Amino acid sequence: MLYIGIDLGTSAVKLLLMDGGGKIHKIVSREYPISFPHPGWSEQNPEDWLRETVEGIRELTADCDKSQIGGIGCGGQMHGLVALDKDNRVIRPAILWNDGRTAEETDWLNTVVGKETLSQYTANIAFAGFTAPKLLWMRKHEPELFAKIDKIMLPKDYLNYMLTGIHCTDVSDASGMLLFDVKHKAWSAEMLKICGLKESQMARIFESYEAVGTLKPDMAAALGLPETVKVCAGAGDNAAAAVGTGTVGDGACNISLGTSGTVFIASRSFGVDPNNALHSFAHADGGYHLMGCMLSAASCNKWWMEEIIGMGEYAREQAAITEDKLGRNHVFFLPYLMGERSPINDTNARGTFIGLSMDNARADMTQAVLEGVAFAVRDSLEVARSLGLDIRKSRICGGGAKSPLWRNIIANVCNLELERIESEEGPGYGGAILAAVACGEFPSVRAATEKLVKVTETVAPEPELTARYEKRYQKFRRIYPTLKELFPTLHD
Ligand code: XUL
Repeated sequence: MLYIGIDLGTSAVKLLLMDGGGKIHKIVSREYPISFPHPGWSEQNPEDWLRETVEGIRELTADCDKSQIGGIGCGGQMHGLVALDKDNRVIRPAILWNDGRTAEETDWLNTVVGKETLSQYTANIAFAGFTAPKLLWMRKHEPELFAKIDKIMLPKDYLNYMLTGIHCTDVSDASGMLLFDVKHKAWSAEMLKICGLKESQMARIFESYEAVGTLKPDMAAALGLPETVKVCAGAGDNAAAAVGTGTVGDGACNISLGTSGTVFIASRSFGVDPNNALHSFAHADGGYHLMGCMLSAASCNKWWMEEIIGMGEYAREQAAITEDKLGRNHVFFLPYLMGERSPINDTNARGTFIGLSMDNARADMTQAVLEGVAFAVRDSLEVARSLGLDIRKSRICGGGAKSPLWRNIIANVCNLELERIESEEGPGYGGAILAAVACGEFPSVRAATEKLVKVTETVAPEPELTARYEKRYQKFRRIYPTLKELFPTLHD
């Protein structure tokens, strides 16, 4: 059988066609716009996702035997608020995971409702990108639109709804709404009440690897696929990427360098970071995970390369950063271009270069960008290590992981052995694996990943370089606390 994996990302939807042996037959990518209507806001049009996904599936399956397609699984950008009215029309553009407009609501939740109470209800505290603060924002700033909400859903659930007609979500993605009792995998009645919501507005909850239904006849016709094709619940993109890299079971770690950057630590049992700096979410394999999320990771490098220095050739730019330069850069970069989530939870934080002198060349700044993201990854990793988790090895995926230099920097900054796997397509590959499990090709997610995911390369940290980076990291750690008070005064 063949399975379609969808990665509903922030810059594009990436689709792949995988067979039951894990081989990828074709990959298609289609971009859509993102709008930043105010500084720190970030929106997309759900209809754009649907249009490009439908076109993408048609392109992906153009030359294959469509009767062989068993299922579709999606890993989607998390936390985004999609609201539909009773006629299933999108009420307003989706407010995305990296949107920082809800500082006030987030603050209200964390201080008035209180972090401890929130953590009791949902296993998490409020972060600006989470869905609940967005609903509070909408209730306050767009009350007439809020009153029209009939169904609330997450980005990939909008696709699943349009494909199947079933208002569904999965446990991993639901975890990031701050409306979900992660431990018991059910909507939190208390949180719904706090946000002025009814359970009837919420989706039916599935495990990520469960089939929610089959294609609606009109969708099957639009896609040119049989109506028997199953759609599985799918997962948030990080949980899907973890499946796609075989990050399942206890203590397994995955670092994703996409638009966002994440450190994902799988666990069989439920657990909470007592300081809630790391998110405590359900995993797509039936278990749980802890996760730190940086709002800007590979996107920092993209911004630097394309917007600032106007250089499309990433490898050529990085060629100037030779081995002898690593761990010796006096320029530092704070990667907080959209504010920051983990572990500092500060919507006011901003990107910063610091430490420049006349002898610096452009390459030092390029290096600082790559290193700044690596240091920020380490910040989340340190929180996990402080909880007693002994993390020495991690898988790595996402667009940023394609750079050998960046992999080397991360391995040494974090003192981690990094494993690359055959497929770079983390969430899409994970989505296809979840679809294969939903169709009965494998008895469990773990059985599927054990069979399908193969490590192709390992980058080991080098003690001398790790020691040099340790000194740089200790300097990096002092920059944000020193500038913290200044940031809110900069952008009024
Ligand atoms: C995770 C998060 C991001 C998005 C990116 O909490 O907000 O990683 O899922 O698509």
